[in-house]
Amino acid sequence: MRSHIALLRLLAAALLAVAVAGEYFKPFNVSYDHRAIIIDGHRRMLISAGIHYPRATPQMWPDLIAKSKEGGADVIQTYVFWSGHEPVKGKYYFEGRYDLVKFVKLVGSNGLYLHLRIGPYVCAEWNFGGFPVWLRDVPGIEFRTDNEPFKDEMQRFVKKIVELMREENLFSWQGGPIIMLQIENEYGDIEGAYGQQGKDYVRWAAKMAVGLGAGVPWVMCKQVDAPEFILDACNGYYCDSFIPNSKKKPMLWTENWDGWYTTWGGALPHRPVEDLAFAVARFFQRGGSFQNYYMYFGGTNFGRTSGGPNYITSYDYDAPLDEYGLLSQPKWGHLKDLHAAIKLCEPALVAADSPQYMKLGPQQEAHVYRGNITQGLNTAFSKSKSVCAAFLANIDEHTAADVKFLGQVYTLPPWSVSILPDCRHVAYSTAKVGAQTSIKLVDLNSLPSKMYVPQRLTFEEEVTYIANDWVTWKEPIGLWGKNNFTSPSILEHLNVTKDKSDYLWYTTRIYISDDEMSFWEENEVSPELSIDSMRDVVRIFINGELSGSKRGHWIKVVQPVQLVQGYNDIVLLSETVGLQNYGAFLEKDGAGFKGRIKLTNSKIGDIDLTESSWTYQVGLKGELLKLYTREKAESVRWKKLMPDATPTIFSWYKTYFDAPGGTDPVVLNLGSMGKGQAWVNGHHIGRYWDLVAPKDGCGTCDYRGAYSSDKCTTNCGKPTQIWYHVPRSWLKSNQNLLVMFEETGGNPFKITINTISTQSVCGQVSETHYPPLHMWWHPEFTNGKISMNDITPELHLQCEDAHTISSIEFASYGTPQGNCQNLLKGNCHAPNSLSIVSQACQGRNSCSIAVSNAVFGDPCRGIVKTLAVEAVCSPSAFSGSASM
Ligand SMILES: *[C@@H]1O[C@H](CO)[C@@H](O)[C@H](O)[C@H]1NC(C)=O
Ligand SMILES: *[C@@H]1O[C@H](CO)[C@@H](O)[C@H](O)[C@H]1NC(C)=O
Ligand SMILES: *[C@@H]1O[C@H](CO)[C@@H](O)[C@H](O)[C@H]1NC(C)=O
Ligand SMILES: *[C@@H]1O[C@H](CO)[C@@H](O)[C@H](O)[C@H]1NC(C)=O
Repeated sequence: MRSHIALLRLLAAALLAVAVAGEYFKPFNVSYDHRAIIIDGHRRMLISAGIHYPRATPQMWPDLIAKSKEGGADVIQTYVFWSGHEPVKGKYYFEGRYDLVKFVKLVGSNGLYLHLRIGPYVCAEWNFGGFPVWLRDVPGIEFRTDNEPFKDEMQRFVKKIVELMREENLFSWQGGPIIMLQIENEYGDIEGAYGQQGKDYVRWAAKMAVGLGAGVPWVMCKQVDAPEFILDACNGYYCDSFIPNSKKKPMLWTENWDGWYTTWGGALPHRPVEDLAFAVARFFQRGGSFQNYYMYFGGTNFGRTSGGPNYITSYDYDAPLDEYGLLSQPKWGHLKDLHAAIKLCEPALVAADSPQYMKLGPQQEAHVYRGNITQGLNTAFSKSKSVCAAFLANIDEHTAADVKFLGQVYTLPPWSVSILPDCRHVAYSTAKVGAQTSIKLVDLNSLPSKMYVPQRLTFEEEVTYIANDWVTWKEPIGLWGKNNFTSPSILEHLNVTKDKSDYLWYTTRIYISDDEMSFWEENEVSPELSIDSMRDVVRIFINGELSGSKRGHWIKVVQPVQLVQGYNDIVLLSETVGLQNYGAFLEKDGAGFKGRIKLTNSKIGDIDLTESSWTYQVGLKGELLKLYTREKAESVRWKKLMPDATPTIFSWYKTYFDAPGGTDPVVLNLGSMGKGQAWVNGHHIGRYWDLVAPKDGCGTCDYRGAYSSDKCTTNCGKPTQIWYHVPRSWLKSNQNLLVMFEETGGNPFKITINTISTQSVCGQVSETHYPPLHMWWHPEFTNGKISMNDITPELHLQCEDAHTISSIEFASYGTPQGNCQNLLKGNCHAPNSLSIVSQACQGRNSCSIAVSNAVFGDPCRGIVKTLAVEAVCSPSAFSGSASM
């Protein structure tokens, strides 16, 4: 008893000390050896979760970090977004979604470490790779090479961030969470384009970074020539064959691409979790020690932050946490199990300097980690002296294999790794998913006919659209304000807009003679407007009428036009849809038009308009007026929009709406709209576009074999994105202002507002599945009193927070078939399945059921039985309507 009290006192004193110092950890140093990152003197096997803070709201951060931790992450990794932090040269911004200090502190207060990738080039499918667009106007600048103006700016920003972190005591040696930094990003991919200057730049960047005295290791990823004092790391779908560029450096994986991004008009990529888990397990099997999911939470490219060419507003990435922060299952759960299995192996993984390799078959192999431990990291092994963990891999893409390992036979599924934390019992197989599947549905009152209809939804309910009252205001075509200017040539798009808007108007006037008109008539040809090269979108107006629109990436445009005798007004609208974020010479890439602009098929040949007198207008009048804000929304005379009105191009729409009740994430369904941008209460929720993915290419998906981004796509033949996230914190209960700028003429009356939640959860676990991982820490097992073979597997189901299991739609212990939302009883079925599962689960947020004859009786002797369940989740009675 006394010792307990003493211990409690000590603990309280320790907690107090931490609280007083404002620290998150007892200060610790970070170093590394050839095997692992060393934290406070101990080698660690680290799981890292990539979350980009501006792709969520500060209100979402705590939940995202907590769910990462619950999923087994030790580290949160983020880039730093220069363009957000220094929108105007010399004027820093660290508030709202860019409150980096707050984010880092939240990571620390959750007891997690942080890997801060400052870059400041970050790629990230972020506008201009994270560079502020003003950077291209610095005289004499060339990005990412041995160029003084660039190096000055880069150093200034990196130093600013390092100093900010130090002032806030956020480095590990100050008791903060930051254990690692990153300078540059995937520079090795483009270094060749810069010759010797590129090599010099790498050395400079490394020295500059280390010279800032941050006191934690720096990483360069994909950088084979990273100097000795900088860690070198791998990015990719698989990194198990990565060899660091020095024998003194550990094997690090800064970006495990667990999904992929999408362009407007593209299908949605999905990486199967069995393959993802295989890649991670292979990495740790073959000596890896730090692995980060890029992304663990992808989130949303709010505003105009998405990169290009043409990246969509959602950055869901098929990550374990979806765009709204909800668990994406079974991805999140299967990885959580994997992380638990790796943690069980950690004492052996860190004790051994290198694994023992054993060939088990033509495509089967084991890596065994053995060692003696002097102090326990995990309670399970704290008393034992010698530890052993093994990974058994079958890299055969087609067939399972029986292998003999240390005297026992194991069946390894194809393309799988089995993890044996004690070198005897399988704790986890990457190919056997025990985690639940979740089906998320939008709570729909209605859907416009053009939209995707999730399974099981009917249109019985009354149609309720976001609003019945809309007003509209017409955006002028071409010049609209005094700040227009004229130049005797075609100017480069970004040189003019400075990326303050997506839009740039080019206007000119051309005289067509009688002679010319009759030439076209006689020869039955029409004039064509030709642009040598263009990105991302151009719309061509002749005398106020839209002649045509083209989209592409540095494509030639040839547009037939109709001219009249006399003066003709030619208006070209150049639009960007996310600036280039990848590649060498970004500062030269630019946007808009390149080459010459001509009128072809004329009597005298081509009429070159390139050196005509062009008048320019940046952006839209509605943007300048800030029509999307509460303060300025009334600065124009809006007209009531009639539901039967013909859709018009270049229109602003405005309405007010009430927020849905509850706490579930809110989405706008913009499937009835064309292309444009939308704002809620002045917050820019992003660009929208109705481009449809190609019909073909979404085949069945087999997890086996190497993944690539076009392997397991969905959504073929449907609009790439129709749901747009409106963070809860941007909404009030009623009278929310929605303003949209629409280019092509959508129908705002069909916009709906919905909430999204996990509505069905399904699990399928067989009686031969591995035992629940938490049993490995059970004292009886540690003492050897019970054997793993005696522990029955469990099926676990869980609804989102504030939701409970309201009903069990299906339950069968026996030989059930099918998958979630399509489960069927087999020949063998325990008749009490439904009542047992209902009793265990109904009315609860989560439940676990042992999968064994002891629970259900034996419905068919000698046959391996499986328990399959589908449950419905509903908002809990107490939280459902409390928020408004
Ligand atoms: C970290 O390392 C520095 C330099 O070697 C040393 O002065 C300091 O005491 C160490 N801090 C901790 C917490 O171990
Ligand atoms: C563990 O310790 C024992 C006894 O000291 C020694 O014989 C054995 O080689 C050690 N094993 C490893 C893997 O270091
Ligand atoms: C374009 O700018 C000029 C000069 O400021 C101004 O006189 C003219 O009215 C502007 N055009 C429009 C359409 O506002
Ligand atoms: C953009 O402006 C800069 C500086 O005014 C100039 O050097 C550069 O050539 C321009 N770029 C293009 C493509 O016109």
